[in-house]
Amino acid sequence: MNIILLGPPGAGKGTQAQRLVERHGMRQLSTGDMLRAAVKAGTPIGLQAKAVMERGELVSDEIVSGIIGEELDAMGPDAGAIFDGYPRTEAQAMSLEKLLADRGRTLDHVIELEVDEDALVERITGRFTCATCGKGYHDKFEQPKLPGTCDKCGGTEFKRRPDDNAETVRTRMAEYRAKTAPILPYYEAKGIVTRINGMAEMDEVTAEIEKVIG
Ligand code: AP5
Repeated sequence: MNIILLGPPGAGKGTQAQRLVERHGMRQLSTGDMLRAAVKAGTPIGLQAKAVMERGELVSDEIVSGIIGEELDAMGPDAGAIFDGYPRTEAQAMSLEKLLADRGRTLDHVIELEVDEDALVERITGRFTCATCGKGYHDKFEQPKLPGTCDKCGGTEFKRRPDDNAETVRTRMAEYRAKTAPILPYYEAKGIVTRINGMAEMDEVTAEIEKVIG
């Protein structure tokens, strides 16, 4: 199964993708995570992407579609894919269609997490992740069970993203409204879009997604 999780920054795409990975053994293809890894490693792509990401703008379509193609090639043909944060523009949606068709894959569902934008700044500025395994947490909504220790791997170091500040979040939301939301009608015409209330409790959102993917 191949699914897209769509929604503005902080909608819960990464949170829900991690849960699908744990429950169904699917692969999470997060262009944001891939770009952050490239920035950290100082690769040519990372050097190009760093300043763009810090401003909250979109990295070029060619770069992100290129890395998604590489990731799809590295996956087993039977593994399901969860596209998290990709596609984000019409050009990326067209590239994904070709990338999937070339590999004999089809897109099964586009799940849009609908959220109240006012709540997103609080979600994003309170977010942190385990520096070892990447599990996501939140100051208010999801603390580690044992304070200072990751539930998943026992790690004790945590990190926050440089673009998770209120000013950059506003730019990221504007980019979503201007460039990403307009791709929904394309998928609606194919009859594969489901809208889910992303403001519900995390477990409720997961249950709704499970209903969609069966
Ligand atoms: P990316 O990493 O994709 O960031 P984003 O889309 O802005 O999304 P986020 O990761 O911020 O949010 P999320 O929806 O995953 O929310 P999360 O689950 O963490 O992209 C970063 C940058 O990279 C972009 O700005 C761009 O520059 C570049 N980029 C990436 N992909 C690109 C592409 N395809 N093209 C061009 N450029 C690209 O949840 C947020 C917080 O809320 C968490 O702390 C979580 O615990 C909490 N939370 C989640 N769900 C709930 C809930 N139901 N109730 C309460 N709290 C919740």
